[in-house]
Amino acid sequence: MNRWTTGNDEALIEMAAAFITAKAYRAVAERGRFTLVLSGGSTPRRLYEKLGRGVHEGLIERFGERLHQGVRRSGHTPEAVTLPWAETFIFQGDERYVPAGHPDSNYGMVRQTLLKYACIRPNNLFRMPVESGDPEADALRYEKLLRTFFRKTSPETSRAFPTFDLVILGLGDDGHTASLFPEQIRALKEQERWVIAVDAPLASPACSRLTLTLPVINHAESVMFLVPAERYGLARSIHEGRRPELPAGMVRPLNGNPHWFVAEPSMQGTQP
Ligand code: 6PG
Repeated sequence: MNRWTTGNDEALIEMAAAFITAKAYRAVAERGRFTLVLSGGSTPRRLYEKLGRGVHEGLIERFGERLHQGVRRSGHTPEAVTLPWAETFIFQGDERYVPAGHPDSNYGMVRQTLLKYACIRPNNLFRMPVESGDPEADALRYEKLLRTFFRKTSPETSRAFPTFDLVILGLGDDGHTASLFPEQIRALKEQERWVIAVDAPLASPACSRLTLTLPVINHAESVMFLVPAERYGLARSIHEGRRPELPAGMVRPLNGNPHWFVAEPSMQGTQP
Protein backbone atom coordinates (compact mmCIF):
# COMPACT_ATOMS: atom_id res chain seq x y z
CA MET A 1 0.00 0.00 0.00
CA ASN A 2 1.25 3.50 -0.76
CA ARG A 3 2.54 5.05 2.45
CA TRP A 4 3.26 8.53 1.10
CA THR A 5 0.25 10.72 0.41
CA THR A 6 0.56 14.37 -0.53
CA GLY A 7 -1.78 17.03 -1.78
CA ASN A 8 -3.00 20.54 -1.11
CA ASP A 9 -4.17 21.24 2.43
CA GLU A 10 -7.86 20.59 1.73
CA ALA A 11 -7.38 17.32 -0.18
CA LEU A 12 -4.84 16.08 2.35
CA ILE A 13 -7.22 16.55 5.27
CA GLU A 14 -9.96 14.69 3.34
CA MET A 15 -7.61 11.78 2.53
CA ALA A 16 -6.18 11.57 6.06
CA ALA A 17 -9.68 11.60 7.55
CA ALA A 18 -10.83 8.92 5.09
CA PHE A 19 -7.77 6.78 5.93
CA ILE A 20 -8.51 7.05 9.68
CA THR A 21 -12.22 6.31 9.17
CA ALA A 22 -11.41 3.25 7.04
CA LYS A 23 -9.02 2.04 9.75
CA ALA A 24 -11.74 2.56 12.35
CA TYR A 25 -14.37 0.44 10.56
CA ARG A 26 -11.77 -2.24 9.81
CA ALA A 27 -10.72 -2.37 13.50
CA VAL A 28 -14.33 -2.57 14.70
CA ALA A 29 -15.09 -5.32 12.18
CA GLU A 30 -12.03 -7.32 13.24
CA ARG A 31 -11.70 -6.52 16.95
CA GLY A 32 -14.96 -4.91 18.02
CA ARG A 33 -13.32 -1.59 18.86
CA PHE A 34 -11.05 1.18 17.54
CA THR A 35 -8.31 2.59 19.77
CA LEU A 36 -7.06 5.91 18.43
CA VAL A 37 -4.14 7.98 19.77
CA LEU A 38 -4.35 11.69 18.93
CA SER A 39 -1.37 13.91 18.22
CA GLY A 40 -1.09 17.35 19.73
CA GLY A 41 0.13 20.57 18.14
CA SER A 42 -1.78 22.78 15.73
CA THR A 43 -1.56 20.86 12.42
CA PRO A 44 -4.23 18.27 13.33
CA ARG A 45 -6.93 20.88 14.18
CA ARG A 46 -8.60 20.74 10.77
CA LEU A 47 -8.22 16.98 10.59
CA TYR A 48 -10.02 16.54 13.90
CA GLU A 49 -12.81 18.87 12.79
CA LYS A 50 -13.15 16.86 9.57
CA LEU A 51 -13.27 13.60 11.53
CA GLY A 52 -16.00 15.10 13.67
CA ARG A 53 -18.06 16.24 10.68
CA GLY A 54 -17.53 13.14 8.54
CA VAL A 55 -15.99 12.17 5.22
CA HIS A 56 -17.47 10.98 1.90
CA GLU A 57 -18.13 7.25 1.74
CA GLY A 58 -16.51 7.04 -1.70
CA LEU A 59 -13.21 8.35 -0.33
CA ILE A 60 -13.26 5.82 2.50
CA GLU A 61 -13.76 3.00 0.01
CA ARG A 62 -10.70 4.27 -1.83
CA PHE A 63 -8.76 3.16 1.22
CA GLY A 64 -10.27 -0.29 0.87
CA GLU A 65 -13.11 -0.22 3.32
CA ARG A 66 -16.59 -1.08 2.05
CA LEU A 67 -19.05 0.23 4.62
CA HIS A 68 -21.91 -2.06 5.59
CA GLN A 69 -25.52 -0.87 5.66
CA GLY A 70 -25.33 -0.61 9.45
CA VAL A 71 -23.23 2.50 9.07
CA ARG A 72 -26.03 4.13 7.08
CA ARG A 73 -28.55 3.26 9.80
CA SER A 74 -26.55 5.17 12.38
CA GLY A 75 -27.62 8.43 10.83
CA HIS A 76 -24.77 8.75 8.34
CA THR A 77 -25.27 9.94 4.81
CA PRO A 78 -22.93 8.81 2.00
CA GLU A 79 -21.44 12.29 2.10
CA ALA A 80 -20.62 12.34 5.81
CA VAL A 81 -19.55 9.09 7.37
CA THR A 82 -18.12 9.62 10.84
CA LEU A 83 -16.18 7.29 13.11
CA PRO A 84 -18.10 4.51 14.91
CA TRP A 85 -18.20 6.60 18.04
CA ALA A 86 -19.68 3.94 20.36
CA GLU A 87 -16.77 1.61 19.59
CA THR A 88 -14.08 4.30 19.36
CA PHE A 89 -11.69 4.90 22.29
CA ILE A 90 -9.65 8.11 22.24
CA PHE A 91 -6.22 8.48 23.86
CA GLN A 92 -3.52 11.16 23.84
CA GLY A 93 -0.01 10.68 22.46
CA ASP A 94 1.36 13.55 24.47
CA GLU A 95 0.30 16.55 26.50
CA ARG A 96 1.86 19.79 27.67
CA TYR A 97 1.76 20.06 31.45
CA VAL A 98 -0.76 22.90 31.50
CA PRO A 99 -4.44 23.03 32.55
CA ALA A 100 -7.02 21.84 29.97
CA GLY A 101 -8.22 25.43 29.51
CA HIS A 102 -4.71 26.73 28.71
CA PRO A 103 -4.19 27.76 25.04
CA ASP A 104 -1.25 25.31 24.81
CA SER A 105 -3.29 22.31 26.01
CA ASN A 106 -3.50 19.52 23.45
CA TYR A 107 -6.65 18.25 25.13
CA GLY A 108 -8.07 21.76 24.92
CA MET A 109 -7.43 21.69 21.16
CA VAL A 110 -9.18 18.28 20.84
CA ARG A 111 -12.13 19.61 22.84
CA GLN A 112 -12.45 22.59 20.47
CA THR A 113 -12.30 20.39 17.37
CA LEU A 114 -13.14 16.68 17.40
CA LEU A 115 -15.16 16.73 20.62
CA LYS A 116 -17.23 19.66 19.36
CA TYR A 117 -18.89 17.24 16.92
CA ALA A 118 -18.16 13.72 18.17
CA CYS A 119 -20.60 11.76 20.32
CA ILE A 120 -17.82 10.20 22.36
CA ARG A 121 -18.92 8.64 25.66
CA PRO A 122 -16.92 9.99 28.63
CA ASN A 123 -15.74 6.41 29.39
CA ASN A 124 -14.31 6.19 25.86
CA LEU A 125 -12.10 9.24 26.37
CA PHE A 126 -8.71 8.85 28.08
CA ARG A 127 -7.25 12.32 28.70
CA MET A 128 -3.71 12.65 30.02
CA PRO A 129 -3.91 13.98 33.64
CA VAL A 130 -2.01 17.21 34.28
CA GLU A 131 -3.56 18.34 37.56
CA SER A 132 -1.46 16.89 40.37
CA GLY A 133 1.50 19.21 39.96
CA ASP A 134 3.77 16.16 39.67
CA PRO A 135 4.33 15.20 35.99
CA GLU A 136 6.03 11.90 36.89
CA ALA A 137 3.11 10.87 39.10
CA ASP A 138 0.65 11.81 36.34
CA ALA A 139 2.66 9.85 33.77
CA LEU A 140 2.44 6.80 36.02
CA ARG A 141 -1.27 7.47 36.52
CA TYR A 142 -1.90 7.51 32.76
CA GLU A 143 0.20 4.39 32.26
CA LYS A 144 -1.92 2.63 34.89
CA LEU A 145 -5.08 3.70 33.04
CA LEU A 146 -3.72 2.23 29.80
CA ARG A 147 -2.63 -1.02 31.44
CA THR A 148 -6.07 -1.44 33.00
CA PHE A 149 -7.81 -0.73 29.69
CA PHE A 150 -5.71 -3.18 27.69
CA ARG A 151 -5.81 -5.82 30.41
CA LYS A 152 -9.61 -5.65 30.32
CA THR A 153 -10.01 -5.48 26.55
CA SER A 154 -7.15 -7.73 25.43
CA PRO A 155 -6.77 -10.19 28.35
CA GLU A 156 -5.74 -12.95 25.97
CA THR A 157 -2.32 -11.53 25.45
CA SER A 158 0.26 -10.80 28.10
CA ARG A 159 1.61 -7.67 26.49
CA ALA A 160 4.86 -5.92 27.21
CA PHE A 161 3.29 -3.08 25.24
CA PRO A 162 -0.26 -2.21 24.10
CA THR A 163 -1.31 -2.36 20.46
CA PHE A 164 -3.27 0.76 19.62
CA ASP A 165 -5.14 0.46 16.32
CA LEU A 166 -3.88 3.81 15.06
CA VAL A 167 -1.44 6.42 16.37
CA ILE A 168 -1.54 9.89 14.79
CA LEU A 169 1.77 11.78 15.06
CA GLY A 170 3.02 15.22 14.15
CA LEU A 171 6.53 16.28 13.18
CA GLY A 172 8.49 19.19 14.63
CA ASP A 173 11.15 21.25 12.81
CA ASP A 174 13.83 19.42 14.84
CA GLY A 175 12.43 16.00 13.95
CA HIS A 176 10.66 15.49 17.26
CA THR A 177 7.37 13.65 17.43
CA ALA A 178 4.87 13.36 20.28
CA SER A 179 6.99 14.89 23.05
CA LEU A 180 10.10 12.88 22.19
CA PHE A 181 12.81 15.43 21.43
CA PRO A 182 16.27 14.84 19.90
CA GLU A 183 18.12 16.01 23.03
CA GLN A 184 16.27 13.61 25.34
CA ILE A 185 18.49 10.55 25.08
CA ARG A 186 17.00 8.85 28.17
CA ALA A 187 13.44 9.26 26.93
CA LEU A 188 14.37 7.96 23.47
CA LYS A 189 16.03 4.89 24.98
CA GLU A 190 13.11 4.03 27.31
CA GLN A 191 12.22 0.37 26.73
CA GLU A 192 9.88 -0.45 29.62
CA ARG A 193 7.59 2.43 30.49
CA TRP A 194 4.51 3.18 28.39
CA VAL A 195 4.20 6.83 29.47
CA ILE A 196 6.92 9.15 30.78
CA ALA A 197 7.25 12.76 31.88
CA VAL A 198 9.88 14.87 30.13
CA ASP A 199 11.17 18.39 30.57
CA ALA A 200 11.16 20.22 27.25
CA PRO A 201 12.95 23.55 27.88
CA LEU A 202 13.83 23.92 24.19
CA ALA A 203 10.34 23.06 22.90
CA SER A 204 7.56 25.46 22.04
CA PRO A 205 5.94 25.78 24.50
CA ALA A 206 8.84 25.12 26.87
CA CYS A 207 7.27 23.11 29.68
CA SER A 208 7.05 19.66 31.21
CA ARG A 209 5.18 17.15 29.11
CA LEU A 210 3.74 13.66 29.24
CA THR A 211 4.40 11.41 26.26
CA LEU A 212 3.93 7.86 25.04
CA THR A 213 7.28 6.13 24.60
CA LEU A 214 8.76 4.83 21.34
CA PRO A 215 8.04 1.12 22.07
CA VAL A 216 4.34 1.92 22.56
CA ILE A 217 4.23 3.88 19.28
CA ASN A 218 6.13 1.12 17.45
CA HIS A 219 3.76 -1.58 18.72
CA ALA A 220 0.74 0.13 17.16
CA GLU A 221 -1.24 -1.61 14.41
CA SER A 222 -0.79 1.50 12.27
CA VAL A 223 1.03 4.81 12.64
CA MET A 224 0.45 7.93 10.55
CA PHE A 225 2.18 11.29 10.39
CA LEU A 226 0.32 14.47 9.44
CA VAL A 227 2.83 17.12 8.32
CA PRO A 228 2.44 20.73 7.10
CA ALA A 229 4.03 21.88 3.83
CA GLU A 230 6.90 23.70 5.53
CA ARG A 231 8.25 20.35 6.73
CA TYR A 232 7.80 18.51 3.41
CA GLY A 233 11.57 18.10 2.86
CA LEU A 234 12.21 16.87 6.41
CA ALA A 235 9.29 14.45 6.17
CA ARG A 236 10.53 13.11 2.84
CA SER A 237 14.04 12.49 4.21
CA ILE A 238 12.65 10.65 7.24
CA HIS A 239 10.19 8.63 5.12
CA GLU A 240 13.14 7.58 2.91
CA GLY A 241 15.07 6.38 5.95
CA ARG A 242 17.78 9.04 5.74
CA ARG A 243 17.28 10.45 9.26
CA PRO A 244 17.37 7.51 11.70
CA GLU A 245 18.94 9.70 14.36
CA LEU A 246 15.79 11.82 14.73
CA PRO A 247 12.93 10.79 17.03
CA ALA A 248 10.50 10.69 14.06
CA GLY A 249 13.07 8.53 12.26
CA MET A 250 13.00 6.10 15.19
CA VAL A 251 9.28 5.48 14.55
CA ARG A 252 9.55 2.10 12.86
CA PRO A 253 6.34 0.24 13.67
CA LEU A 254 6.74 -3.55 13.96
CA ASN A 255 3.64 -3.85 11.79
CA GLY A 256 4.98 -1.86 8.85
CA ASN A 257 6.26 1.60 7.98
CA PRO A 258 4.31 4.68 8.99
CA HIS A 259 1.84 6.29 6.60
CA TRP A 260 2.79 9.87 5.72
CA PHE A 261 0.21 12.54 4.92
CA VAL A 262 2.23 15.62 3.93
CA ALA A 263 0.89 18.89 2.58
CA GLU A 264 2.34 19.80 -0.83
CA PRO A 265 4.56 22.87 -0.72
CA SER A 266 2.86 25.74 -2.56
CA MET A 267 4.52 26.85 -5.76
CA GLN A 268 5.60 30.01 -3.93
CA GLY A 269 8.14 29.59 -1.18
CA THR A 270 8.61 26.22 0.53
CA GLN A 271 10.62 23.86 -1.64
CA PRO A 272 10.51 20.08 -1.18
C1 6PG B 1 2.98 18.64 20.68
C2 6PG B 1 2.93 17.59 19.61
C3 6PG B 1 4.13 17.68 18.75
C4 6PG B 1 3.62 18.30 17.46
C5 6PG B 1 4.74 18.88 16.64
C6 6PG B 1 4.18 19.65 15.44
O1 6PG B 1 2.36 18.44 21.72
O2 6PG B 1 3.61 19.69 20.41
O3 6PG B 1 2.46 16.44 19.87
O4 6PG B 1 4.79 16.48 18.49
O5 6PG B 1 2.91 17.30 16.72
O6 6PG B 1 5.45 19.75 17.48
O7 6PG B 1 3.40 20.70 15.98
P1 6PG B 1 2.50 21.65 15.01
O8 6PG B 1 1.44 20.78 14.44
O9 6PG B 1 1.98 22.69 15.94
O10 6PG B 1 3.45 22.19 13.96
